[in-house]
Amino acid sequence: MWQLDPHTKAKHDLLKSYLGGWFPVLSSYNGRIVFLDGFAGPGRYQSGEPGSPLIALDTLLSHSYFDKMKCEFLFFFCESKKDRFESLTQQIEGYKEANQPWPKNVKVQLVNSEFSETATNLIDHLRNQKRRLAPTFAFVDPFGFSGLPMSILAELLSFDSCELFVNYMVDHVNRFATAGNVDHHLVDLFGTNEYKQVGSLPPGVSRQQFLHDLYERQLTGVCNFPYVQSFAMINKTGHIGYYLFHGTRGIKGVELMKEAMWKVDPGGGFKFSDRLAGQDVLFTDSAVDTDPLRRALLAQYSGRRVSITTLEQFTLIHTPYKKTHLRKPVLTPLERAGVIQVQRPGRSGFPDGTWITFP
Ligand SMILES: C[S@@+](CC[C@H](N)C(=O)[O-])C[C@H]1O[C@@H](n2cnc3c(N)ncnc32)[C@H](O)[C@@H]1O
Repeated sequence: MWQLDPHTKAKHDLLKSYLGGWFPVLSSYNGRIVFLDGFAGPGRYQSGEPGSPLIALDTLLSHSYFDKMKCEFLFFFCESKKDRFESLTQQIEGYKEANQPWPKNVKVQLVNSEFSETATNLIDHLRNQKRRLAPTFAFVDPFGFSGLPMSILAELLSFDSCELFVNYMVDHVNRFATAGNVDHHLVDLFGTNEYKQVGSLPPGVSRQQFLHDLYERQLTGVCNFPYVQSFAMINKTGHIGYYLFHGTRGIKGVELMKEAMWKVDPGGGFKFSDRLAGQDVLFTDSAVDTDPLRRALLAQYSGRRVSITTLEQFTLIHTPYKKTHLRKPVLTPLERAGVIQVQRPGRSGFPDGTWITFP
C-alpha cells in the first residue's frame, strides 16, 4: 500500500464523477454493463482511502438511482502482483460484508494476472462464443507504460458502447523513448514505431506534445474512438506528470467527462490543463479564462455564417471547454463589441435557430 497523492485523489474524484453519470445512462438501455479495472492495485491506500475498485463499486451502490437500475453490473478487477491481489480480495470481501444483503445484479470478478493476458483470454472467449463485450468502461491505470498494448485495447473495446479512460504516463515514455532498451514495450503501447521520431524533432517542437499527439492519433485511428479528450496533470513545479485520455464513441460521454473535468479540483498545487489556440487552458471553475475559446472560434469560422448548434459541437468536441462556456462568456461580449453579427429567433440570448456571422 502506498500514500494517496493529491493528484491520485483527483483522478479518483474524476472517476467517481464520471461513473456517477455513466452507470444510470448505460444501465437504462442495456441488460448488462461492465466496469473493467485493468491495473486495479491493492484496494486501499495507506490511510485507508479506497482505491479505484472500491470507488467504482461504491459509486454504484450508493447512487441515488441504484434501486432503479435494473441491469446486471459486472466489475472486473485485474491485478498482476500476488500480494496486492490478496489485499484487493480482502478489501472487496470486507466491502461486500459491510453491504449485505449484496445486490444480486452486481457481480465482482477478480483476476490475478496481467491485464494483457486477461484481455486476450476475454477476447478469445468472446470470439469462440461469437459474442461481443457488453458496454464496458475500461480504466487502465498502470505505473509506467508496459502491459497496455494498443492492439489489445483496440480489439477488446471494439464494440460501440465501450469506452477507455487511460492514464498515459508521458513522463516515463519521454524518458525511455530514445533509450532503445524497451522498444518492444513502446511499440506495443503505441501500435507503431513512429514514437522514435521524438529523437529528431525540429527545434521548438516539444517532445511531450509530440508523444501526446501520437497517442491521441493512435487511439482515434487504431482503437477507432472518434472522440478522444485528454487532460494534463500538472504538478507543483509546472511539469506534466501524466495525461488522462478518455476515448468514447458517443457525444454523451464527451459531455459527461467534460463536466467531471471542470468539477474536480486537484488542489495541493496540482492542476488539470489542456492547450487550445496556442494557450494553456486550466480546468478551474473559478475565473475561467475563455480567451483561448474566443480565439479558436474566430480562427475556425472566420468569414462564415454558422448555427449556434455548430458552435456548440465545435466547443464540445474540439476544445477543452464545456457548452456553458460558449454563450455568456464568449458570444455575448463578441456581439456587444460588434465583432460578430447575430440573427436570432427571439429577442435575446442564443437559442436554437440562432445564426452567427464571423468577421
Ligand atoms: C497505479 S497502480 C493502480 C492503482 C489503482 N488503479 C487505484 O487507483 O487505486 C497500478 C497497479 O497495477 C499493477 N500492475 C502492474 N503491471 C500490471 C499488469 N501488467 N497487469 C495488471 N496489473 C498490473 C501494479 O501491481 C499496481 O498495483
